[in-house]
Amino acid sequence: MMHLNAFVMPNGHHEAAWRHPSTDPHRARTLRHYADIARTAERGKLDSIFLADGVALWGNVKHNSHSHFEPLTLLSALAASTVHIGLIATASTTYNEPYHLARKFASLDHLSGGRAGWNIVTSAGIDEARNFNLAKRPSHDARYDRAEEFVEVVKKLWDSWDDDAAVVDRPSGVYADTDRIRAIAHDGPHFQVRGPLNIERPVQGYPLLVQAGSSETGKEYAARHAEAVFTAQQTFAEGKAFYEDVKGRLAKYGRTPDELKILPGISPILGRTEAEAREREAELNALIIPDYGLQQLSKMLDHDVTGYPLDGPLPDVGSFTEGGQSRFDLVVGLARREDLTIRQLLERLAGGRGHRVFAGTPVQVADELEAWFRGGAADGFNVMPPTLPGGLDDFVDLVVPELQRRGLFRTEYSGSTLREHYGLARPVNRNRVKEPA
Ligand SMILES: Cc1cc2nc3c(=O)[nH]c(=O)nc-3n(C[C@H](O)[C@H](O)[C@H](O)COP(=O)(O)O)c2cc1C
Repeated sequence: MMHLNAFVMPNGHHEAAWRHPSTDPHRARTLRHYADIARTAERGKLDSIFLADGVALWGNVKHNSHSHFEPLTLLSALAASTVHIGLIATASTTYNEPYHLARKFASLDHLSGGRAGWNIVTSAGIDEARNFNLAKRPSHDARYDRAEEFVEVVKKLWDSWDDDAAVVDRPSGVYADTDRIRAIAHDGPHFQVRGPLNIERPVQGYPLLVQAGSSETGKEYAARHAEAVFTAQQTFAEGKAFYEDVKGRLAKYGRTPDELKILPGISPILGRTEAEAREREAELNALIIPDYGLQQLSKMLDHDVTGYPLDGPLPDVGSFTEGGQSRFDLVVGLARREDLTIRQLLERLAGGRGHRVFAGTPVQVADELEAWFRGGAADGFNVMPPTLPGGLDDFVDLVVPELQRRGLFRTEYSGSTLREHYGLARPVNRNRVKEPA
Protein backbone atom coordinates (compact mmCIF):
# COMPACT_ATOMS: atom_id res chain seq x y z
CA MET A 1 0.00 0.00 0.00
CA MET A 2 1.19 3.51 -0.68
CA HIS A 3 1.38 6.20 2.01
CA LEU A 4 -0.20 9.61 1.61
CA ASN A 5 0.63 12.74 3.54
CA ALA A 6 -1.25 16.02 3.11
CA PHE A 7 1.13 18.99 3.11
CA VAL A 8 -0.99 21.84 4.44
CA MET A 9 -0.41 25.51 3.60
CA PRO A 10 -2.91 28.21 4.59
CA ASN A 11 -4.62 28.66 1.21
CA GLY A 12 -2.94 25.90 -0.80
CA HIS A 13 0.39 25.42 -2.52
CA HIS A 14 -0.04 27.54 -5.60
CA GLU A 15 1.54 30.90 -4.84
CA ALA A 16 -1.57 32.71 -6.08
CA ALA A 17 -4.01 30.42 -4.25
CA TRP A 18 -4.97 33.18 -1.83
CA ARG A 19 -6.28 35.26 -4.76
CA HIS A 20 -8.37 32.45 -6.22
CA PRO A 21 -12.15 32.72 -5.69
CA SER A 22 -12.32 29.21 -4.18
CA THR A 23 -10.18 30.14 -1.16
CA ASP A 24 -10.85 32.36 1.85
CA PRO A 25 -7.64 33.96 3.20
CA HIS A 26 -9.48 35.32 6.26
CA ARG A 27 -10.77 31.90 7.24
CA ALA A 28 -7.24 30.54 6.74
CA ARG A 29 -6.33 32.32 9.97
CA THR A 30 -8.85 30.33 12.02
CA LEU A 31 -8.64 26.99 13.76
CA ARG A 32 -11.89 25.91 12.03
CA HIS A 33 -10.16 26.08 8.63
CA TYR A 34 -7.38 23.70 9.68
CA ALA A 35 -9.69 21.42 11.64
CA ASP A 36 -11.84 20.97 8.50
CA ILE A 37 -8.75 20.19 6.43
CA ALA A 38 -7.44 17.68 8.99
CA ARG A 39 -10.83 15.96 9.15
CA THR A 40 -10.97 15.79 5.35
CA ALA A 41 -7.54 14.13 5.31
CA GLU A 42 -8.80 11.71 7.94
CA ARG A 43 -11.96 10.99 5.94
CA GLY A 44 -9.62 10.02 3.08
CA LYS A 45 -7.69 7.69 5.47
CA LEU A 46 -4.47 9.58 4.77
CA ASP A 47 -1.46 8.71 6.92
CA SER A 48 -0.74 12.22 8.12
CA ILE A 49 -0.90 15.96 7.71
CA PHE A 50 2.24 18.06 7.73
CA LEU A 51 3.02 21.69 8.49
CA ALA A 52 6.18 23.35 7.20
CA ASP A 53 7.83 26.12 9.18
CA GLY A 54 10.53 28.74 9.16
CA VAL A 55 11.60 31.00 11.99
CA ALA A 56 11.47 34.19 9.96
CA LEU A 57 8.84 35.85 7.81
CA TRP A 58 9.54 33.56 4.87
CA GLY A 59 8.67 35.40 1.73
CA ASN A 60 7.35 38.60 0.34
CA VAL A 61 4.20 39.03 2.38
CA LYS A 62 3.17 41.96 0.19
CA HIS A 63 1.95 39.42 -2.38
CA ASN A 64 1.25 36.22 -0.46
CA SER A 65 0.11 35.04 2.95
CA HIS A 66 3.34 34.13 4.68
CA SER A 67 2.16 34.48 8.24
CA HIS A 68 1.34 31.09 9.63
CA PHE A 69 0.75 29.38 12.91
CA GLU A 70 3.53 27.74 14.87
CA PRO A 71 3.13 24.04 13.92
CA LEU A 72 3.25 22.37 17.34
CA THR A 73 0.69 24.80 18.68
CA LEU A 74 -1.67 24.24 15.76
CA LEU A 75 -1.20 20.46 15.70
CA SER A 76 -1.92 20.23 19.43
CA ALA A 77 -5.26 21.87 18.74
CA LEU A 78 -5.85 19.54 15.77
CA ALA A 79 -5.11 16.52 17.96
CA ALA A 80 -8.39 17.33 19.65
CA SER A 81 -10.35 17.59 16.37
CA THR A 82 -9.16 14.27 14.94
CA VAL A 83 -8.75 10.65 15.99
CA HIS A 84 -6.50 8.81 13.54
CA ILE A 85 -4.50 11.16 11.37
CA GLY A 86 -0.77 11.61 12.01
CA LEU A 87 0.40 15.13 12.90
CA ILE A 88 3.83 16.12 11.57
CA ALA A 89 5.38 19.42 12.66
CA THR A 90 8.53 21.03 11.31
CA ALA A 91 11.06 22.19 13.88
CA SER A 92 14.59 23.49 13.41
CA THR A 93 17.70 21.91 14.89
CA THR A 94 19.63 25.14 14.30
CA TYR A 95 17.42 27.46 16.33
CA ASN A 96 16.17 25.25 19.15
CA GLU A 97 17.64 23.34 22.06
CA PRO A 98 17.21 19.54 22.17
CA TYR A 99 15.56 19.56 25.58
CA HIS A 100 12.82 21.90 24.36
CA LEU A 101 12.01 19.83 21.29
CA ALA A 102 12.23 16.46 23.03
CA ARG A 103 9.71 17.73 25.53
CA LYS A 104 7.36 19.38 23.01
CA PHE A 105 7.21 16.39 20.66
CA ALA A 106 6.78 14.00 23.59
CA SER A 107 3.89 16.18 24.74
CA LEU A 108 2.22 16.16 21.32
CA ASP A 109 2.72 12.41 21.09
CA HIS A 110 1.01 11.84 24.45
CA LEU A 111 -1.77 14.35 23.79
CA SER A 112 -2.56 12.79 20.40
CA GLY A 113 -2.31 9.16 21.51
CA GLY A 114 0.84 8.46 19.47
CA ARG A 115 0.29 10.51 16.33
CA ALA A 116 3.22 12.97 16.42
CA GLY A 117 5.95 13.32 13.81
CA TRP A 118 8.91 15.70 13.59
CA ASN A 119 10.14 17.08 10.27
CA ILE A 120 13.76 17.75 11.19
CA VAL A 121 15.09 20.81 9.35
CA THR A 122 18.36 22.67 9.57
CA SER A 123 16.95 26.11 8.51
CA ALA A 124 18.64 27.30 5.35
CA GLY A 125 17.53 30.95 5.46
CA ILE A 126 19.70 33.98 6.18
CA ASP A 127 16.70 35.80 7.68
CA GLU A 128 16.35 33.02 10.24
CA ALA A 129 19.92 33.48 11.48
CA ARG A 130 19.25 37.18 11.98
CA ASN A 131 16.37 36.39 14.34
CA PHE A 132 18.67 34.36 16.57
CA ASN A 133 21.56 36.63 17.49
CA LEU A 134 23.58 35.85 14.37
CA ALA A 135 24.70 38.19 11.60
CA LYS A 136 25.53 35.25 9.33
CA ARG A 137 23.91 31.91 8.64
CA PRO A 138 25.94 28.94 9.96
CA SER A 139 27.43 26.99 7.02
CA HIS A 140 25.59 24.04 5.47
CA ASP A 141 28.03 21.57 7.07
CA ALA A 142 27.87 23.29 10.45
CA ARG A 143 24.07 23.12 10.44
CA TYR A 144 24.01 19.40 9.65
CA ASP A 145 26.77 18.78 12.19
CA ARG A 146 24.65 20.32 14.91
CA ALA A 147 21.57 18.48 13.62
CA GLU A 148 23.41 15.19 14.03
CA GLU A 149 24.17 15.70 17.68
CA PHE A 150 20.81 17.37 18.25
CA VAL A 151 18.78 14.33 17.24
CA GLU A 152 21.05 12.02 19.25
CA VAL A 153 20.38 14.08 22.37
CA VAL A 154 16.65 14.14 21.69
CA LYS A 155 16.55 10.35 21.33
CA LYS A 156 18.50 9.94 24.55
CA LEU A 157 16.01 12.21 26.33
CA TRP A 158 13.05 10.21 25.00
CA ASP A 159 14.84 7.09 26.26
CA SER A 160 15.56 8.60 29.67
CA TRP A 161 12.36 7.00 30.97
CA ASP A 162 11.77 3.30 30.51
CA ASP A 163 8.34 2.61 29.06
CA ASP A 164 7.20 1.19 32.36
CA ALA A 165 8.88 3.73 34.64
CA ALA A 166 5.60 5.28 35.78
CA VAL A 167 4.21 2.46 37.91
CA VAL A 168 1.49 4.62 39.51
CA ASP A 169 1.02 2.32 42.50
CA ARG A 170 -1.41 4.16 44.73
CA PRO A 171 -1.55 1.66 47.62
CA SER A 172 2.23 1.81 48.17
CA GLY A 173 2.52 5.48 47.25
CA VAL A 174 5.08 4.87 44.49
CA TYR A 175 4.36 6.97 41.42
CA ALA A 176 7.48 6.16 39.43
CA ASP A 177 10.28 3.61 39.70
CA THR A 178 13.20 6.01 39.77
CA ASP A 179 15.64 3.21 38.86
CA ARG A 180 13.98 3.29 35.48
CA ILE A 181 14.44 7.02 34.97
CA ARG A 182 17.99 8.08 34.23
CA ALA A 183 20.01 11.21 33.61
CA ILE A 184 21.54 11.11 30.13
CA ALA A 185 24.65 13.12 31.05
CA HIS A 186 25.28 14.04 27.43
CA ASP A 187 28.52 15.95 26.90
CA GLY A 188 29.25 16.74 23.26
CA PRO A 189 30.70 19.52 21.11
CA HIS A 190 27.35 21.32 20.75
CA PHE A 191 25.29 20.24 23.71
CA GLN A 192 25.70 19.42 27.37
CA VAL A 193 22.44 18.00 28.64
CA ARG A 194 21.98 16.22 31.92
CA GLY A 195 18.37 15.04 31.70
CA PRO A 196 16.23 13.14 32.35
CA LEU A 197 13.26 14.51 30.43
CA ASN A 198 10.34 15.83 32.45
CA ILE A 199 7.74 13.69 30.71
CA GLU A 200 7.26 9.94 30.19
CA ARG A 201 8.65 8.18 27.11
CA PRO A 202 6.45 9.04 24.11
CA VAL A 203 3.60 6.69 23.19
CA GLN A 204 5.44 5.80 19.97
CA GLY A 205 8.80 5.47 21.73
CA TYR A 206 10.03 8.19 19.39
CA PRO A 207 7.64 10.35 17.40
CA LEU A 208 8.07 9.62 13.67
CA LEU A 209 11.32 11.17 12.41
CA VAL A 210 10.95 12.91 9.06
CA GLN A 211 13.62 14.69 7.02
CA ALA A 212 13.39 16.87 3.94
CA GLY A 213 16.83 17.99 2.77
CA SER A 214 18.10 16.15 -0.31
CA SER A 215 21.71 17.39 -0.59
CA GLU A 216 24.53 14.84 -0.17
CA THR A 217 24.72 15.64 3.53
CA GLY A 218 20.94 15.61 3.76
CA LYS A 219 20.66 12.17 2.17
CA GLU A 220 23.27 10.75 4.53
CA TYR A 221 21.44 12.29 7.46
CA ALA A 222 18.18 10.77 6.23
CA ALA A 223 19.79 7.34 5.89
CA ARG A 224 20.99 7.51 9.51
CA HIS A 225 17.96 8.99 11.21
CA ALA A 226 14.87 9.47 9.06
CA GLU A 227 11.90 7.15 8.83
CA ALA A 228 10.14 9.23 6.19
CA VAL A 229 11.67 11.58 3.64
CA PHE A 230 9.86 14.41 1.89
CA THR A 231 11.55 15.36 -1.35
CA ALA A 232 11.00 17.42 -4.51
CA GLN A 233 11.64 15.46 -7.71
CA GLN A 234 10.59 16.74 -11.13
CA THR A 235 10.78 13.61 -13.27
CA PHE A 236 10.27 9.88 -12.78
CA ALA A 237 13.94 9.25 -13.68
CA GLU A 238 15.13 11.72 -11.03
CA GLY A 239 12.67 10.32 -8.49
CA LYS A 240 13.83 6.77 -9.10
CA ALA A 241 17.51 7.71 -8.92
CA PHE A 242 16.92 9.53 -5.63
CA TYR A 243 14.90 6.62 -4.24
CA GLU A 244 17.60 4.09 -5.08
CA ASP A 245 20.34 6.39 -3.83
CA VAL A 246 18.79 6.97 -0.39
CA LYS A 247 17.59 3.38 0.08
CA GLY A 248 21.06 2.19 -0.92
CA ARG A 249 22.63 4.14 1.95
CA LEU A 250 20.62 2.40 4.67
CA ALA A 251 22.52 -0.89 4.89
CA LYS A 252 25.66 0.71 6.23
CA TYR A 253 23.67 1.93 9.22
CA GLY A 254 22.23 -1.53 9.81
CA ARG A 255 18.84 -0.55 8.42
CA THR A 256 16.59 -2.23 5.86
CA PRO A 257 14.93 -0.41 2.93
CA ASP A 258 11.45 -0.67 4.43
CA GLU A 259 12.56 1.23 7.54
CA LEU A 260 12.48 4.49 5.58
CA LYS A 261 9.58 5.71 3.44
CA ILE A 262 10.27 8.09 0.56
CA LEU A 263 7.50 10.53 -0.33
CA PRO A 264 8.08 12.87 -3.29
CA GLY A 265 5.79 15.88 -3.50
CA ILE A 266 3.05 16.28 -6.07
CA SER A 267 0.60 19.11 -6.54
CA PRO A 268 -2.38 17.59 -8.35
CA ILE A 269 -4.61 20.01 -10.24
CA LEU A 270 -7.79 18.06 -10.89
CA GLY A 271 -10.50 18.44 -13.51
CA ARG A 272 -13.30 16.26 -14.87
CA THR A 273 -11.42 16.29 -18.15
CA GLU A 274 -7.77 16.97 -18.88
CA ALA A 275 -8.81 20.19 -20.60
CA GLU A 276 -10.68 21.32 -17.48
CA ALA A 277 -7.64 20.56 -15.29
CA ARG A 278 -5.42 22.59 -17.59
CA GLU A 279 -7.91 25.43 -17.53
CA ARG A 280 -7.76 25.42 -13.72
CA GLU A 281 -3.99 25.51 -13.85
CA ALA A 282 -4.08 28.41 -16.30
CA GLU A 283 -6.60 30.22 -14.10
CA LEU A 284 -4.22 30.00 -11.14
CA ASN A 285 -1.17 30.94 -13.21
CA ALA A 286 -3.01 34.02 -14.51
CA LEU A 287 -3.05 35.30 -10.90
CA ILE A 288 0.75 35.09 -10.50
CA ILE A 289 2.53 38.34 -9.62
CA PRO A 290 5.99 38.10 -11.29
CA ASP A 291 7.65 40.37 -8.69
CA TYR A 292 6.68 37.93 -5.98
CA GLY A 293 8.01 34.93 -7.89
CA LEU A 294 11.27 36.75 -8.64
CA GLN A 295 11.87 37.41 -4.97
CA GLN A 296 11.11 33.80 -4.06
CA LEU A 297 13.41 32.61 -6.83
CA SER A 298 16.16 34.93 -5.58
CA LYS A 299 15.83 33.38 -2.12
CA MET A 300 15.91 29.82 -3.45
CA LEU A 301 19.00 30.57 -5.52
CA ASP A 302 20.64 32.80 -2.90
CA HIS A 303 21.22 35.17 -5.80
CA ASP A 304 19.40 38.37 -6.78
CA VAL A 305 17.65 37.63 -10.08
CA THR A 306 15.38 40.69 -10.03
CA GLY A 307 16.15 43.21 -12.75
CA TYR A 308 16.89 40.68 -15.51
CA PRO A 309 14.56 40.57 -18.54
CA LEU A 310 11.67 38.22 -17.81
CA ASP A 311 11.78 36.84 -21.32
CA GLY A 312 15.50 36.15 -21.22
CA PRO A 313 17.35 33.18 -19.71
CA LEU A 314 18.24 32.69 -16.08
CA PRO A 315 21.59 34.47 -15.52
CA ASP A 316 24.67 32.67 -14.22
CA VAL A 317 23.99 31.96 -10.55
CA GLY A 318 27.02 29.76 -9.90
CA SER A 319 26.79 26.18 -8.80
CA PHE A 320 26.83 26.26 -5.02
CA THR A 321 24.91 27.75 -2.10
CA GLU A 322 25.27 27.62 1.66
CA GLY A 323 21.44 27.65 1.71
CA GLY A 324 19.19 24.80 0.58
CA GLN A 325 21.40 22.87 -1.85
CA SER A 326 19.01 20.31 -3.30
CA ARG A 327 16.40 22.91 -4.25
CA PHE A 328 19.09 25.12 -5.78
CA ASP A 329 20.23 22.19 -7.96
CA LEU A 330 16.66 21.32 -8.90
CA VAL A 331 15.72 24.84 -10.00
CA VAL A 332 18.92 25.54 -11.93
CA GLY A 333 18.73 22.07 -13.52
CA LEU A 334 15.13 22.64 -14.61
CA ALA A 335 15.88 26.04 -16.17
CA ARG A 336 18.94 24.80 -18.05
CA ARG A 337 17.56 21.42 -19.13
CA GLU A 338 14.41 22.91 -20.63
CA ASP A 339 16.04 26.16 -21.69
CA LEU A 340 13.38 28.18 -19.85
CA THR A 341 13.09 31.94 -19.78
CA ILE A 342 12.77 33.52 -16.34
CA ARG A 343 9.04 34.01 -16.93
CA GLN A 344 8.57 30.35 -17.86
CA LEU A 345 10.62 29.28 -14.85
CA LEU A 346 8.44 31.40 -12.55
CA GLU A 347 5.33 29.68 -13.94
CA ARG A 348 6.87 26.26 -13.40
CA LEU A 349 7.71 27.11 -9.79
CA ALA A 350 4.46 28.88 -8.93
CA GLY A 351 2.49 25.69 -8.34
CA GLY A 352 4.85 23.88 -6.00
CA ARG A 353 8.14 25.78 -5.55
CA GLY A 354 9.98 23.03 -7.43
CA HIS A 355 7.71 20.14 -6.58
CA ARG A 356 5.98 18.42 -9.46
CA VAL A 357 2.70 19.95 -10.57
CA PHE A 358 0.42 17.59 -12.46
CA ALA A 359 -2.85 18.69 -14.07
CA GLY A 360 -5.21 15.91 -15.09
CA THR A 361 -8.27 13.82 -14.36
CA PRO A 362 -8.49 11.72 -11.18
CA VAL A 363 -7.66 8.63 -13.26
CA GLN A 364 -4.61 10.32 -14.79
CA VAL A 365 -3.40 11.45 -11.36
CA ALA A 366 -3.90 7.93 -9.98
CA ASP A 367 -2.01 6.56 -13.02
CA GLU A 368 0.93 8.85 -12.24
CA LEU A 369 1.01 7.91 -8.57
CA GLU A 370 0.74 4.23 -9.45
CA ALA A 371 3.56 4.49 -12.01
CA TRP A 372 5.94 6.10 -9.51
CA PHE A 373 4.92 3.71 -6.74
CA ARG A 374 5.12 0.51 -8.77
CA GLY A 375 8.14 1.74 -10.71
CA GLY A 376 10.29 2.05 -7.58
CA ALA A 377 10.42 5.84 -7.28
CA ALA A 378 8.17 6.33 -4.24
CA ASP A 379 6.69 4.61 -1.18
CA GLY A 380 3.95 7.21 -1.19
CA PHE A 381 3.41 10.90 -1.80
CA ASN A 382 3.43 14.26 -0.17
CA VAL A 383 0.17 15.61 -1.56
CA MET A 384 0.26 19.36 -2.03
CA PRO A 385 -3.23 20.65 -2.92
CA PRO A 386 -3.01 23.72 -5.17
CA THR A 387 -5.85 25.37 -3.23
CA LEU A 388 -7.27 24.67 0.22
CA PRO A 389 -9.64 23.42 1.33
CA GLY A 390 -11.05 22.59 -2.15
CA GLY A 391 -7.94 20.92 -3.58
CA LEU A 392 -7.84 18.39 -0.74
CA ASP A 393 -11.59 17.73 -0.99
CA ASP A 394 -11.07 16.91 -4.67
CA PHE A 395 -8.13 14.62 -3.95
CA VAL A 396 -9.93 12.76 -1.18
CA ASP A 397 -13.24 12.47 -3.05
CA LEU A 398 -11.87 11.65 -6.50
CA VAL A 399 -8.32 10.27 -6.37
CA VAL A 400 -8.36 8.30 -3.10
CA PRO A 401 -11.32 6.09 -4.17
CA GLU A 402 -9.56 5.40 -7.45
CA LEU A 403 -6.40 4.33 -5.58
CA GLN A 404 -8.53 2.21 -3.25
CA ARG A 405 -10.24 0.53 -6.21
CA ARG A 406 -6.80 -0.39 -7.52
CA GLY A 407 -5.84 -1.89 -4.15
CA LEU A 408 -3.11 0.72 -3.71
CA PHE A 409 -4.43 2.52 -0.65
CA ARG A 410 -6.09 1.56 2.63
CA THR A 411 -9.86 1.74 3.01
CA GLU A 412 -9.66 1.80 6.83
CA TYR A 413 -6.99 2.63 9.38
CA SER A 414 -5.58 -0.59 10.77
CA GLY A 415 -3.49 0.94 13.56
CA SER A 416 -3.82 3.85 15.92
CA THR A 417 -0.37 5.47 15.87
CA LEU A 418 1.42 7.36 13.10
CA ARG A 419 4.15 4.69 13.10
CA GLU A 420 1.52 2.04 12.56
CA HIS A 421 0.07 3.97 9.62
CA TYR A 422 3.53 4.02 8.01
CA GLY A 423 4.21 0.39 8.93
CA LEU A 424 7.18 1.32 11.11
CA ALA A 425 8.28 -0.41 14.29
CA ARG A 426 8.25 1.24 17.70
CA PRO A 427 11.91 1.90 18.62
CA VAL A 428 13.22 -0.02 21.60
CA ASN A 429 14.66 1.99 24.43
CA ARG A 430 18.41 2.08 23.83
CA ASN A 431 19.18 3.10 27.38
CA ARG A 432 17.13 0.61 29.26
CA VAL A 433 19.22 -0.81 32.09
CA LYS A 434 16.87 -2.78 34.26
CA GLU A 435 14.41 -5.47 33.22
CA PRO A 436 11.10 -5.20 35.07
CA ALA A 437 10.77 -7.68 37.95
C1 LIG B 1 8.57 18.84 1.23
C2 LIG B 1 9.61 19.67 1.86
C3 LIG B 1 9.30 20.43 2.96
C4 LIG B 1 10.25 21.22 3.58
N1 LIG B 1 9.87 21.96 4.65
C5 LIG B 1 10.77 22.76 5.24
C6 LIG B 1 10.38 23.54 6.33
O1 LIG B 1 9.25 23.50 6.76
N2 LIG B 1 11.30 24.35 6.89
C7 LIG B 1 12.60 24.42 6.45
O2 LIG B 1 13.38 25.16 7.01
N3 LIG B 1 12.99 23.67 5.39
C8 LIG B 1 12.11 22.85 4.80
N4 LIG B 1 12.49 22.10 3.73
C9 LIG B 1 13.87 22.22 3.30
C10 LIG B 1 14.76 21.13 3.80
O3 LIG B 1 14.38 20.57 5.01
C11 LIG B 1 16.20 21.53 3.91
O4 LIG B 1 16.41 22.38 4.99
C12 LIG B 1 16.69 22.23 2.69
O5 LIG B 1 16.26 21.53 1.55
C13 LIG B 1 18.18 22.32 2.72
O6 LIG B 1 18.70 21.03 2.80
P1 LIG B 1 19.63 20.47 1.68
O7 LIG B 1 20.71 21.49 1.49
O8 LIG B 1 20.09 19.17 2.28
O9 LIG B 1 18.81 20.30 0.46
C14 LIG B 1 11.57 21.28 3.09
C15 LIG B 1 11.91 20.51 1.97
C16 LIG B 1 10.94 19.71 1.36
C17 LIG B 1 11.33 18.87 0.19
